[in-house]
Amino acid sequence: MDLKKFVSSIDYDVKLTKYDILGSIAHVNMLAKCKIISKSDAIKITNALSSILKDFENKKIRLQGEDIHTAIESELKKRIGEVAGRMHTARSRNDQVVLDERLYLKEEILIIVGKINNLISVIKKISKNNLSVIMPGFTHLQNAQPVLLSHWLLAYGWMLKRDKERLLDCFKRVDVMPLGAAAFAGTEFSIDRNFVAKQLGFSRISENSVDTVSDRDFIIEFLSDCSIISMHISRIAEELIIWSSQQFGFIEFSNEFTTGSSIMPQKKNPDFAELLKGKTGKIYGNLLSVLTMMKGLPLSYNRDMQEDKEPFFDSVENLKDMLDILSKMIAGLKINSKRMYSACENGFILATDIADYLVSKGLPFRTAHGIVRNIVNYCIKSKKTFGDLSMLEWEKFSTKFNESISVVLNYKKAIEKRKSYGGTSFQSVKNQLKKL
Ligand code: ARG
Repeated sequence: MDLKKFVSSIDYDVKLTKYDILGSIAHVNMLAKCKIISKSDAIKITNALSSILKDFENKKIRLQGEDIHTAIESELKKRIGEVAGRMHTARSRNDQVVLDERLYLKEEILIIVGKINNLISVIKKISKNNLSVIMPGFTHLQNAQPVLLSHWLLAYGWMLKRDKERLLDCFKRVDVMPLGAAAFAGTEFSIDRNFVAKQLGFSRISENSVDTVSDRDFIIEFLSDCSIISMHISRIAEELIIWSSQQFGFIEFSNEFTTGSSIMPQKKNPDFAELLKGKTGKIYGNLLSVLTMMKGLPLSYNRDMQEDKEPFFDSVENLKDMLDILSKMIAGLKINSKRMYSACENGFILATDIADYLVSKGLPFRTAHGIVRNIVNYCIKSKKTFGDLSMLEWEKFSTKFNESISVVLNYKKAIEKRKSYGGTSFQSVKNQLKKL
């Protein structure tokens, strides 16, 4: 059993190196400005911190210690001696770690939002390029009504737009500068917290020092947002998997996103889309992990909280990969529009249109619904489609039918009619594309 290894977090919080150093430089500048340490000491410290960062980024040094904060301080001491010890005046690792996490997350949220934007653009592009492709829309995965493929795909675009808004809203609560809370009670030194906030680009400072070091809500909120995003990704992935099956044949994945089988030579498996779903489980797990770790923790800082980092970083890294892969996957899809159109022949997907037709002839919708159900049952029994029915057969079900019913039996027209705001008509889909 290795006790040191058990309490250590350096293996993963090394990810925070840049933020820890930038935070320390801002802190030390503030200490000098407030005359808590001398200008010359501050310059010595900040210069050495910058060179540590440079060496770290060029992979010239390995930072060693219990965690990244102690590792950087001991590297600093190696370089400039005793004066390094002045850096930690009016500060604790408790507020320092929150600062690092907040700086890191602010950057990552903007990167993720950029990737979501990219995915939305890809979805818009494929929708634009296939604007007139018609497919059966589903409820319960059963053919239901004709719809534009572009309308269907844009549904995912709107989900992703909400995801982006959610992240940017979360950003506001991440964008709070914690330094100055020190261990948890604040400090006796007359520090200038707003000066630190300004240097580091924070728009506010935290209000209660106890809350400041105890709070991981911003991570939990972010992980919840990640869970919703990955849930959306998993839905797109599953839809594409279903569509790529032999039974559907609506789409084909580009070769780079499929793999063969070790035993069945003919196979082209959608492994990447499947893994997008699989990783979603991990992302939910990360949320649950931090939520559970925080449950019942008394104020203020507790070492339990060190365990927030691995799930936090894991969700960031996985989500970024998932978004990149999905964008590329969708951009490379081969759309089989003929197959989509011919799939409309199954499942009597114009039944609603026929009922609406009867409504336009004066029947109450419920009565019309019943009549069309009878027609569908008749067609199933006699192995016919709506298009196969003669005028005489239509009239048997209702005298309201006349020759004009043939106009209703057209998928394109059915789509064109659905002009209600947000509906599947060409015009409304074009409007959506502009708005998204
Ligand atoms: N590595 C610690 C963490 O991630 C830093 C804070 C340590 N504070 C303490 N009082 N031991 O939470």
